[in-house]
Amino acid sequence: MLSRTVVLKVTSWPWMERMVKRSFLFRKLVQRFVAGDTLGEALDVSAELARRGFLISLDLLGENVKSLDEAISAKNAYIDMLGAIEARNLNASRKEPIEAANISIKLTQCGFDQGDEVAERHFREVLTEASRYGNFVRVDMEASEYTERTVSLIERVWPDHKNTGTVLQSYLYRTPSDLDRMIKLGARVRLVKGAYAEPASIAYPKKRDVDRAYVELAKKALRQVNYPAIATHDERIIAELKEFIASERIDPASFEFQMIYGVRRDLQEQLRSEGFNMRIYVPFGEAWYPYFTRRLAERPANLFFILKSLFKG
Ligand code: FDA
Repeated sequence: MLSRTVVLKVTSWPWMERMVKRSFLFRKLVQRFVAGDTLGEALDVSAELARRGFLISLDLLGENVKSLDEAISAKNAYIDMLGAIEARNLNASRKEPIEAANISIKLTQCGFDQGDEVAERHFREVLTEASRYGNFVRVDMEASEYTERTVSLIERVWPDHKNTGTVLQSYLYRTPSDLDRMIKLGARVRLVKGAYAEPASIAYPKKRDVDRAYVELAKKALRQVNYPAIATHDERIIAELKEFIASERIDPASFEFQMIYGVRRDLQEQLRSEGFNMRIYVPFGEAWYPYFTRRLAERPANLFFILKSLFKG
């Protein structure tokens, strides 16, 4: 059985990236996880999801820009996304104070590698624009070298911008303390298991420990975080949390579930029909490769199936 770490390693080899990008079979799988190359395509997909009662978070694919110019372009693209959400009326069905369609961004696209002050300047511009529309900007959490910088940046902008929140990963040993920092602030948190290859010195290597930490953190988040997002496709964990929510009499309007576009559509539909807030993370753009490899690593059976077809000729 291929492990998550092995898939992340193999897909980072340049020849593998070239092969995946050229392969017709992979292209089909990419289309399952990516809503389109353009903002227009992603908005069409989002409008259809909204019509069916789902909340949306739009994500422009791409990370680790290499220059200041690229960071400025990414910041401008985020601002365009906020305007396009308004123009397409995707927030018409919002249930105050929760927006029906928001955006998720990456600080390495805002220019983290060009300096914290570069990323902060761009991030603040995006937040200012979002507040004009009463919208919210979620900061995705990237690899561990950025964790402290991300949490600290949220704390720094918070006095001026309350329309943001971040993501915490249950595989990191440090996350309980980051969760406390976000609770103290009152910022929203999306809880995930974590999608990057991290060493055992800072992250649980065993899935069962990651899962156990997830449940503990989620229970705390449901009680104490401002409008937490429970972002997982793990049916067993969702069932356990639903029992907890019922027994603790937690108001379903006080949190949301989140899942990724193309993953467990049956479960997305089920939770929505049970009356839970269900937000779909809708990625789009041409820079899909790193995102796609993380989705493959979460379910190596996808990769195994394709490799088998390739070798069969
Ligand atoms: P787990 O990996 O245990 O999967 C549970 C079940 O879900 C599997 O058995 C399978 O049925 C299904 N499944 C999961 N992934 C699948 C896939 N790719 N293809 C097919 N089936 C799949 N991570 C991060 O580090 N930073 C971030 O900012 C985010 N943001 C984010 C937003 C949202 C809305 C979600 C749902 C997830 C993220 N993640 C993330 C990714 C997260 O860290 C994690 O890698 C994935 O959600 C997979 O973990 P699960 O919790 O789904 O459990």
